[in-house]
Amino acid sequence: MHILVTGGTGYIGSHTVVELLQQGDRVTIIDNLYNSSKKVVDRIEAITKSRPDFVKLDLCDQDKLENLFKISVFDAVIHFAGYKAVGESVERPLMYYRNNLISTLNLLTCMKAHQVTKLVFSSSATVYGQPERIPMDEDCRLSTTNPYGTTKLMIETILSDVAKANPEFSFVVLRYFNPIGAHKSGLIGETPQGIPNNLTPYIAQVATGQRDFLRVWGNDYDTPDGTGVRDYIHVVDLAKGHLKALDYANTRTGIDFINLGTGKGYSVLQVLHAFEKACGKQLPYQILERRPGDIATSYASTKKAEEVLGWKAQYDIDRMCVDLWRFATQNPKGIR
Ligand code: NAD
Ligand code: UFG
Repeated sequence: MHILVTGGTGYIGSHTVVELLQQGDRVTIIDNLYNSSKKVVDRIEAITKSRPDFVKLDLCDQDKLENLFKISVFDAVIHFAGYKAVGESVERPLMYYRNNLISTLNLLTCMKAHQVTKLVFSSSATVYGQPERIPMDEDCRLSTTNPYGTTKLMIETILSDVAKANPEFSFVVLRYFNPIGAHKSGLIGETPQGIPNNLTPYIAQVATGQRDFLRVWGNDYDTPDGTGVRDYIHVVDLAKGHLKALDYANTRTGIDFINLGTGKGYSVLQVLHAFEKACGKQLPYQILERRPGDIATSYASTKKAEEVLGWKAQYDIDRMCVDLWRFATQNPKGIR
C-alpha cells in the first residue's frame, strides 16, 4: 500500500513511518518542518534500510497539496500534522484553529477529489476534558478545556459529518493517551522546543543536567501519592496501533473512535522513579502548585482497541524510560 503520512517527520509520525516501511508499505511524508527536522528522514532510512518519499509542504497550502494528489496515487492517509502544545494554544488560539482546522479541511478536500477514502486521524484523550469516568471509554462525555483540545473535538465532528455525507469513506479516529519513549535504536524520538511542557522530556533534561530539578505540579490530588496520574504509552506501541487502524479501515466504511493507551496509570513520582532506574541516578524534584487545567487522573479503557483492532500495548513504563534515556543521551540537543 502507498500511505500518505502528514506530519511524518514528527515524533509519533516518524515512529509510525518506521513500522509502515518495515511492514513493506510505501510511504510519502508531507511535513512543513515547523516542529521537526528533515534529518529524521535519514534516521528513518538508517533504521529501516528503505527511504520514504519526503515532500516539504504546508497542508494549509491547498494548491500545492492538490498538485501532490494529482501526481500521486495514495491508498490511505495517516494525518498527524498539527500544532499540539496546550499552553501555547491558550495564548495563540487563532494560530491553532487556523493550522489544525484548515490543514484538515484541505486534506479532506483533496481526498474527496481524488477518491482516497481511508484516513486514520490523531486525536487525543484531551477530548474527554474532565473525564466522566475512569477508566475512560470511548462513550464518555466529550468536552475540552483549551483551544488545542477544541481543535481535536472540532475535527472529530468534521470527520463525522464528512463520513455521513460520503458513505464510501472510512475514518478511524485514534484518541492517544500519553505517548512517551523513543525507538530502541536511539535514532528517533521527541525534540521539544524550548522548555519542555510534558513530563518525561523534562525529566530527561534534568537527568542530562540541562534543568536543575523537576517541578512537580501539585501533590494534593486525590491519587495514591497526591501527584497526577496518567496512562503513558510507548510511542512504538502507539505506532503499531496505526497499522492495525489501517487494516481496520480497509475492512469497513464509516467512522469509529478508538482509545490507544495501556489501561494503567502512573503518578508523576512513579514515572520519576522509573526514570531514575533507567538513568542510574537520583533526580532532584520540588513540589509546586498545581498546573492550571490539569486533571487528577487519566487512563484508558483499552477494551475497544483490543476487540476492534486486535491491538494491545506491549511495553511497560521501565522500557519507556530506558528507551527515552538512550535517545536523550545519544541526542542531547534532540534532532534539529
Ligand atoms: P509533532 O509536533 O512531533 O509532529 C507533528 C508534525 O506536524 C511536525 O513535524 C510539524 O512540523 C508538522 N506540521 C504541523 N503543522 C503542519 C502543517 N500545516 N503542514 C505540514 N506539516 C505540519 O507532534 P506529535 O507528538 O508527533 O503529534 C502528532 C499528532 O498527534 C498531533 O496531531 C498531535 O496533536 C497528536 N497527539 C499528540 C500527543 C502527544 O502527547 N505527543 C497526544 C495526543 C495527540
Ligand atoms: N507534570 C509535572 N511537571 C512537569 C510536567 C508535567 O509535574 O514539568 C505532570 C502534570 O501535572 C501531569 C503529568 O505530569 O500530572 C503529565 O503531564 P504532561 O504535560 O506530560 O501530559 P498531560 O497529560 O498534561 O497532557 C498530554 C498531552 C496533551 C494531551 C493530553 C491528553 O501533552 O496534548 O496528554 O492526551 F492532550
